[in-house]
Amino acid sequence: MKIMTFTGSKGGVGKTTILFNYAAWLAQNNYRVLLIDGDFQANLSSTFQTITNENTLLDVFLGGTPEIRNVASNIDLLPASPNLDKVEGLIQNKMYREYLLMEWMRKNADTINQYDFVMIDTHPEFGLLTKNMIAVSDAVIVPLEPSEYGFQQLKTQFELRMAEYREDSIDPRSGKSDIDAKVYFIGNKIQHNTSESRTFREILSEMDNVIGLFNYREVMKKALTLKQAVVDMPDEKLRQYHGYKEHLEEQFAHMTERIQND
Ligand SMILES: Nc1ncnc2c1ncn2[C@@H]1O[C@H](COP(=O)(O)OP(=O)(O)O)[C@@H](O)[C@H]1O
Ligand SMILES: [Mg+2]
Repeated sequence: MKIMTFTGSKGGVGKTTILFNYAAWLAQNNYRVLLIDGDFQANLSSTFQTITNENTLLDVFLGGTPEIRNVASNIDLLPASPNLDKVEGLIQNKMYREYLLMEWMRKNADTINQYDFVMIDTHPEFGLLTKNMIAVSDAVIVPLEPSEYGFQQLKTQFELRMAEYREDSIDPRSGKSDIDAKVYFIGNKIQHNTSESRTFREILSEMDNVIGLFNYREVMKKALTLKQAVVDMPDEKLRQYHGYKEHLEEQFAHMTERIQND
């Protein structure tokens, strides 16, 4: 079982889009997937028609009764609550406040261990909630998008924050950090005809922790609005996006191999 968190310091880069499409691909390939929506905007939850205040991820942090729902074949979901943005204030004074999700997962290990992959979506900030997600993760996946200067700065900023968090989480008895997660980057929204995208692709292809490069295509926008993953779309819908489904499948297979083997 592998736990991965999609995060990063910026919204709109494609975290939810890639996670949703990747989950559908994993499910098609007979992997059992648990989705955890950690963004109070609840985009992932709404993709599965599950907007609710009841029995959500918030209950994990407040000692309530979170409920995992089956939302598709091989896909279960622990939805976000729109009130999740208030959680940081509520848990701030708790002991082990960065390990509350870990504690819940340990207590529910029988359930959690049934999945092949747990995939966590986040709101773009490096707060207590995201730290809880990273603390349980094997892989932290940060999508980047082409921009003249921005993406390198975001990447460096994220790496610094991770280093700080690892440092802060060193167990004084063992001298080892409690944060084991590996950081991976993904290039998203790559266009074939812009110099920004060309530079972006060149820089990313020289990094050894980039595990996927995703081309820009309008059909990715449709996936979230139609609540249907590209890999689940019928051939007629995909005709004008020739080769894009195969492109996604190739990237997802590559990501899976890296995450499973590292
Ligand atoms: N590869 C892509 N090609 C085209 N549009 C994309 C791609 N990836 C994401 N998008 C679009 O970008 C927007 C932001 O994506 P989203 O997944 O909501 O970002 P985040 O979760 O990081 O805030 C959405 O409109 C989505 O459809
Ligand atoms: Mg999102």
